[in-house]
Amino acid sequence: MKNNDGFASKGAAFEASEDIPTNTNLTKTFAKVAARRYGRRDVMRGALGLAATTALGSTLGALGGAKTAEAAEGRYVWTEIEHGVDETHHVAEGHSAEVLIRWGDPVVPGAPEFDPANQTAEAQAQQFGYNNDYLGYVGLPFGSDNPDHGLLCVNHEYTSEEVMFPGIGRQDRKGFPDMTEDLVNIEMAAHGGSVIEVKREGDRWSIVADGQYNRRITANGTYMELTGPAAGSDRLKTSVDQSGTRCIGTINNCAGGITPWGTYLMAEENFHGYFGGVVDGHPEERNYKRYGVPGGWYAWSKFHKRFDINAEPNEANRFGWVVEVDIFDPTSTPKKRTAMGRFKHEGAESIINSDGRVVVYMGDDQRFDYLYKFVSERRYNPDNREANMDILDSGTLFVARFNEDGTADWLPLIHGHGPLTPENGFDSQADVVIEARTAADLLGATPMDRPEDVEPSATTNKVYVMLTNNSRRKADAVDGPNPRGPNNFGQVVEMTPPNGDHDALRYTWDLLVVAGNPNDPEVGAKYHPATSENGWFGSPDNCAVDPNGRLWISTDQGSNWAKTGTADGLWGVETEGDMRGYSKMFFRTPIGAELCGPKFTPDTTSLFLAIQHPATDGTKAYPGFERDSTFEDPATRWPDFTEGMPPRPSVVVIRKDDGGEIGT
Ligand code: FEO
Ligand code: CA
Ligand code: CA
Repeated sequence: MKNNDGFASKGAAFEASEDIPTNTNLTKTFAKVAARRYGRRDVMRGALGLAATTALGSTLGALGGAKTAEAAEGRYVWTEIEHGVDETHHVAEGHSAEVLIRWGDPVVPGAPEFDPANQTAEAQAQQFGYNNDYLGYVGLPFGSDNPDHGLLCVNHEYTSEEVMFPGIGRQDRKGFPDMTEDLVNIEMAAHGGSVIEVKREGDRWSIVADGQYNRRITANGTYMELTGPAAGSDRLKTSVDQSGTRCIGTINNCAGGITPWGTYLMAEENFHGYFGGVVDGHPEERNYKRYGVPGGWYAWSKFHKRFDINAEPNEANRFGWVVEVDIFDPTSTPKKRTAMGRFKHEGAESIINSDGRVVVYMGDDQRFDYLYKFVSERRYNPDNREANMDILDSGTLFVARFNEDGTADWLPLIHGHGPLTPENGFDSQADVVIEARTAADLLGATPMDRPEDVEPSATTNKVYVMLTNNSRRKADAVDGPNPRGPNNFGQVVEMTPPNGDHDALRYTWDLLVVAGNPNDPEVGAKYHPATSENGWFGSPDNCAVDPNGRLWISTDQGSNWAKTGTADGLWGVETEGDMRGYSKMFFRTPIGAELCGPKFTPDTTSLFLAIQHPATDGTKAYPGFERDSTFEDPATRWPDFTEGMPPRPSVVVIRKDDGGEIGT
């Protein structure tokens, strides 16, 4: 998630999904806390950086501090690593972490090698994009569950110009004075996704350089189709597409999903940030204001008129969807599935319901926005992949309303039902899905504390909802699933469908974890009491249920890490039995990064992690650095640690040293 530090608040309707800018009070507070808790050595910039200086592919891991387990471990059996922050990553002892692919590495066969001083859009469109977020894995051949050879699907959520390009620093705070058309085109090519064939030999995973499925999807070079109820709507038509069904590219792809039929779902999140122009008096004023369009996070509208809402009034309606990609045909046209609604989609994880229908859970990541599910009309056909390819085009979109009695109702977004009528501006189902947020407002959905990843578990048949934080929730406006105001640390809500029926209209819900420091009474955190001083976390964002049914949670604190004293990381969290709510730290990112995409292979022996935006978030609070990173002067040069090479978002793969299951 881009931390825009509140920039662009000149737009009255603008509301950042992320806030809590770094300030000097936080810096001082963290410095004191850190000095007391960890000793200066552990938080000093560079304390471990040099030790981690290695060439690509060499083992970087096993740097984690050795802390003796103090308590029962449940099913998370490793020596816990410690909270802290420094220039590199750390993984629990007995495991290793190798870099698999970095921003700029070749993806498409024949792609040029990365040259940070001479970047071009043409090269970038063939190379690994920026800010890896969602990670999906599909064994090869399809249906084999092969844990050693498969396709890795990677979202590239956004770009960070200050550490990507020489000599320009942070541009969005200054009106983009140094952004040229060439730089913008590189940014556009660095967005989207990658499909990459990967293979393990011994302990070493590598990219199959000439993989037949290897593909880059970008914001400016990939044609897409709009399908489902909004396809062809007048509100999707533009000067270059009078059909309302064809568009170019995808942006801000955050989390996502892999469907049971082996397609890749890319969720478009903060699409508003790419648009410029004036919204007052705009024909889509109500709609655009509800979504914060235009956000003005990028200079794209200066060079590409379709990102100017006055020059191309409907283009912003062609983003904010879930995109489905057939990864087994690298020439296939990705499809934006409008039946699943238009909002700031965080992820799109699915489960096959007992009746064979497909249920996809989705969060809309903004303060006070909502939790959704989509239930397909048709049933999944396990014997015929082709028969499932357009299953996400028809079905019902629901939004959640949580009740104080521990139940939650799913309210359908159907044109003509309840308030979703022409009197309220909804003339068709197209209008309902295009303005899904406004429809959900009218239905009385429960405003949540930034819903991020939502993961159904086939083991427990429960659904785990990551709620990151909400600085704007007032103390007198709390409710059951959002129990604190302001909420700096987030919580995890567990939802239980009755009898495992994910098509049910009423679930029950409970709080699994209330995040933050459980030893500080003012924080109001809740974990299993055996959770150690390193076992608690802040700002849950992405998550995974591993093949053993264990829940893993990764965090995105932004600059809020100064309030916890630890960089982002990965924690295992018990969901059932006597240890329910017990949390244990497994992995930690380098300074300024967030951790995305935890994804296990089907045999649990490899774990892919996406290290997003190293060196960027909250570096003013980083003791010994205390300034913003730039290309020339980053807070870390992870993972290369080579002079002249900027920090690079990268995918890391974790293996256990004995080749066994991760975290056992
Ligand atoms: Fe892209 Fe909500 O994080
Ligand atoms: Ca995030
Ligand atoms: Ca996220």
